Order: sequence, then C-alpha cells, then structure tokens
Amino acid sequence: MSHPVLTALGLSGTESGTFLGNGEWSKTTDAGVLEPVNPTDGQVLAKVNASSQADYDTIVERAQAAFKVWRTTPAPRRGEAIRLCAEALREHKDALGSLVALEMGKSKPEGDGEVQEMIDIGEFAVGLSRQLYGLTMHSERPGHRMYEQWHPLGLVGIISAFNFPVAVWAWNSFIAAICGDISIWKPSPKTPLSAIASMKICNEALRKGGFPDIFFLFNDSGSELAQHFVDDKRIALVSFTGSTKVGRQVGERVARRMGRSLLELGGNNAMIVDASADLKLAIPAIVFGAVGTAGQRCTTTRRVFIHESIHDDVLAKLVTAYKQVEGKIGDPTDPANLMGPLNSADAVDAYLDAIERAKAAGGTVETGGAKLDRPGNFVLPTIVTGLSNDAEIVQHETFAPILYVMKFSKLEDAIDMQNAVPQGLSSAIFTENLKAAEAFLSAAGSDCGIANVNIGTSGAEIGGAFGGEKETGGGRESGSDAWRAYMRRQTNTINYSDALPLAQGIKFDL
Ligand code: UN1
Repeated sequence: MSHPVLTALGLSGTESGTFLGNGEWSKTTDAGVLEPVNPTDGQVLAKVNASSQADYDTIVERAQAAFKVWRTTPAPRRGEAIRLCAEALREHKDALGSLVALEMGKSKPEGDGEVQEMIDIGEFAVGLSRQLYGLTMHSERPGHRMYEQWHPLGLVGIISAFNFPVAVWAWNSFIAAICGDISIWKPSPKTPLSAIASMKICNEALRKGGFPDIFFLFNDSGSELAQHFVDDKRIALVSFTGSTKVGRQVGERVARRMGRSLLELGGNNAMIVDASADLKLAIPAIVFGAVGTAGQRCTTTRRVFIHESIHDDVLAKLVTAYKQVEGKIGDPTDPANLMGPLNSADAVDAYLDAIERAKAAGGTVETGGAKLDRPGNFVLPTIVTGLSNDAEIVQHETFAPILYVMKFSKLEDAIDMQNAVPQGLSSAIFTENLKAAEAFLSAAGSDCGIANVNIGTSGAEIGGAFGGEKETGGGRESGSDAWRAYMRRQTNTINYSDALPLAQGIKFDL
C-alpha cells in the first residue's frame, strides 16, 4: 500500500519515471528500477521504472518537434502557460511540500517553502515573459539602426540534486519555458517521486490550458543515459546542480562539444560575526543556516568566524540553541520538528567520517557528533572548534550539519579566511558597523556570488541571481537577468539608406 502522502498526489507504489510528452508516460519496465527510500525509517517508498535508451530518444525527438512550435509562440503567451503551472502548484502546495519532506527528509515547513519557491519563480517568469529586453545601439553609420534581440536557445537539459528536488527544476524549466525553450529533466535518483509529482501537476495544468508539452522527464537507473545526455549535441544547454566533482566532468564534456553549461556546485559558506553584531539576529541565523535542511543546502553555513571579544559568549549561546534543536529532531512530515534525517545512509557515513577527521586534526566537538540510535538517518547537529580555516576538513564541503567555529581579531583576517576556500557560493556578515558591512561587500570583500549583511547564508529569494564563483561553477540561475543563459543573443544592423558605408571608415570602391 502506498504512503498516504503519495496517494494524496495520485501516486501509486509503482510509477513510470519517464514522461514522453503527448500526455504519455512510458510503459518501459526493463530498464532498471529506482527505489527511493524514506530517510526517516529506511523503507522503500515506491518503485520507479527507469527510462530506456529508446525512451530517451523519443523524448529528444519530441522535444525537438515541440521546440519548433514553442519558439515562435509569443513570449507573453508562454508566460500564460507558466502562470497556470504556478497556480496548480499553489493548489498542491501542501501535498507536494509533504512529499518533498517525506522523500528528501527536510522539515515540512522547508518542504512547503521549496514549493513556494517554485510558485515564486513561476510568477517571476510570468512577468519576465514581457521583459526579455535587448539593447539598442547607435550605429556609427548614417541611415543604419542597430539592436540586439534574444531568441530561444533550444533544448535545455536539467540535472538536479536530491536536496532541492523540485525548486531547482522550476528555476530552470520555468525560465527556460518563457524564453521559448523545451526542457528535459533528469532528477536525482534519490528523489524521483517528487519529480514525477511535479511533472504531473504542471503537465496537467498545461494540458487543461490547451498548451503543448514543454517539459519532459527521464530517470536513469545507472549513469549511462545521463552521460549520453551530457554529450548529446541536441541539448543546447545543460544546467547541472550537484557536487564539484561531477560538475567538473559535466562542464568539461559539454565544453568539448561546444555546448553551454550552467553549473551550480558546492559551497563552503561562512558567516562573520563582528564585535558589534546583534546576537538576537546572529544566533538564529547561524542555527538556521547550519542546521536547516540538516546541513544539506548548497548555501548551508559551514564556517563561522567570531570576533575574539565575544567568541566564548556566542559559542555558549550556539550550544544552548543546538540543544533546543536536538529536542525537535524527528519525522520531517511532522511540522513540529525542526530537523529531519540526512537523506541517505551514505550521508551519515560521510558525516561520521568528517567528525573523525576533524577530531584527528585536533578539533573539539562542542555539541553533537553522533548518529541517533533509532531507525533512519538521523544525526545530531554538530559544532567543532579548535581547527584552523586551512585544515583539510574545513576546506571540504561535507553535506551534513557540521559547523566549524573559529575566532578572529581583525576584520581583514576574517574576510581573508572566509575567501580562502575553493568554493565561492554564499557568505554573510553580522555587524552594526557600517564600515565593516561595506568593506565586506566591497571589491576587496567577500568573493562569493551571494554576500549578505545581517541575514544568513541560506534561504536566498528567487528575485536575485543565484550561484557562485570558483569551484561553485560560475553559473547563475533564478532571478535578475539569469534568463539570458537560456537564450541566444543576436545583433542586428539594418541599413535604411541608399548607400553602403562600411564600418571603421573602410573604403572599398569597385
Ligand atoms: C541549493 O541548495 O541547491 O538559498 C539551493 C537557498 C535556497 C536554494 C538552495 N533558496 O538556500
């Protein structure tokens, strides 16, 4: 019998993992099976039939045909399609939020928040569908007009991670859709049900509104189809969210075929708490940043630099707050809990291994540091002190709730340490001091794609461009002008004179 959270969304114990378009889900049953596990109790939630090579080929062919129609559909009309998707997601927010909590393991409020992020980006995309602006330029030649326009790019491949099993797809596919692209999604093998449910909700909304299929889905039982996807010249843009290790391979392979990639890779995000910081804000921000989603966000706070004058006080307050969280660890679908399990048993091993390595390097576990003695992948949120920023484990992104707390005396040193990691996604400072805040945001300040003052490192709003520098991959998704990655730019010069003057004053008289 299926879990009630699945039944609420019309999902059964066996699902097809392939949406072929034309309202059709593949009947393939011989390409392997995915068995997403409930991280709360270790039980298999459902069986998902993986996609075959033939399914993949059908998807790409149908997506190519769909693109021919969609690219000339007026952009505001494309926006109307996404408006319907956002509306349908609003109706299903509670049910889909619960499924995200169940399958991924994040708390119910965070699961609902993730669906809200889909709705937000949907509504952003509706407005954006009337604002795909190009520039106009003054030509150097008389009787000439110059401008640029943005055209749809083609097929967009989306490879998403387990930690944001639905929102990252929406960031990409909704923006791609209003840009005139067709998207093909390969979700994480750990969260196929959230993907299937999202596709069902959106495709039904599109169908009811008389729109064609603009979203496709496949699931890979191994990594063969995904590799094929990355190497497939028909996929104009591959948007990948995941580890730096895999992202590097994706980036290299897509570059080899001169495709475009958009990479959202690891973070090693830090917060600076200076002597003037308002601790009423800083403490909850650190705790949410480090413990939210059980430390499995790319934007999770992993390092905190505290001014030496307040270090011991802040540490004591953090330990007290962590003990409060310990009382609210449990089934993520219960809205009373603040923290759920890690998503997989492998993640628990990585957490335990990181703690051993931190201790071996001379670190002290101030709180946490253990797996809970109960079924599922539950661990304690952990604070480690006594390590320097260049310790190997501190330099590494462990996808778990482990926070390294360090001291500083001069702000410049704190900024240098915050930047001295391979990753460059998110960063924050807590200060009441204008000079410190501005120094942190200046060209000599944080080197990250996201830099905040008096708010935490995680929980970015969709309106800004999301992404980071260095080993985070350089991609930008979501708001601002991130849409440009999903379109091709064309510069047009029109001569409305009776002469043919050449640029740069060149004479070429026949
Ligand atoms: C991610 O962890 O992959 O800023 C995305 C945040 C969320 C998105 C995180 N809005 O924490």
